[in-house]
Amino acid sequence: MVLKKTADDNRELLTDPKTILDTAMEFQHLLMLYESGIKQITTKFEILEDEFQSKHKRNPIETISSRIKDPMSIAEKLQRKGLAVTMDNMVNKLYDIAGIRVTCPFISDVYHVTQMLLQQDDITLIEMKDYIQNPKASGYRSLHVIVKVGVYFSDQKREIPVEIQIRTIAMDFWASLEHQLHYKKDYQMPANVSTELKSIAEAIASNDRRMQELAKNIPGFVEYNIIQYPEHNTVLAKK
Ligand code: GTP
Ligand code: MG
Repeated sequence: MVLKKTADDNRELLTDPKTILDTAMEFQHLLMLYESGIKQITTKFEILEDEFQSKHKRNPIETISSRIKDPMSIAEKLQRKGLAVTMDNMVNKLYDIAGIRVTCPFISDVYHVTQMLLQQDDITLIEMKDYIQNPKASGYRSLHVIVKVGVYFSDQKREIPVEIQIRTIAMDFWASLEHQLHYKKDYQMPANVSTELKSIAEAIASNDRRMQELAKNIPGFVEYNIIQYPEHNTVLAKK
């Protein structure tokens, strides 16, 4: 099924009512699959949270949120990648249609929570990008993990890709505010604003490290190593 776009606007050019209905239903079905992937992984994080809370009386996860990429963003991303706006390309070329964001108190929690998820045998690691140890030029810090999770439906099991962004509360504070400053897509950020944002990101990172050091000195505080993944951009099984 091809969703064509007119030259002068972004509305889909589908005229035949049956085609419109079939396309809408197929699209809705796909979104249901991605929602199922989100539910599966969210539950995994919630169980890890409960277990950790019960054992250690503190929580390595502060918040879990999720979203399904909206149809216009899906179309824009496919076009940006030079791909036709088709359902096939959406399914086979995009890995961030289902997205989950997890925030953690300490940097070590980010790596620990990630390891606890990745060691589960119905999770396949597809891609890992460590923007904590390799921050983006903007100052952005976060651990990005793309996984596939097995989901059972009435007559089949599907492997659903889900992108997970895991970061500290402090990194999330910066990313959320910086994102708001970009609210106008066509607005070019002045150089001094970008420099200031980067400097704030560094101050935040420094405070995250200080908090981590404090935590190390608290008796009985569970400490985990910061994992050094072999490469920043580990693409393991992307199609
Ligand atoms: P895509 O093709 O867009 O997926 O490019 P990519 O895979 O190189 O993207 P990346 O790994 O950089 O992750 C994209 C997502 O990370 C975005 O949708 C944002 O949620 C987040 N992100 C990346 N860079 C920044 C940044 O500078 N600021 C903020 N606030 N968020 C960012
Ligand atoms: Mg990406």
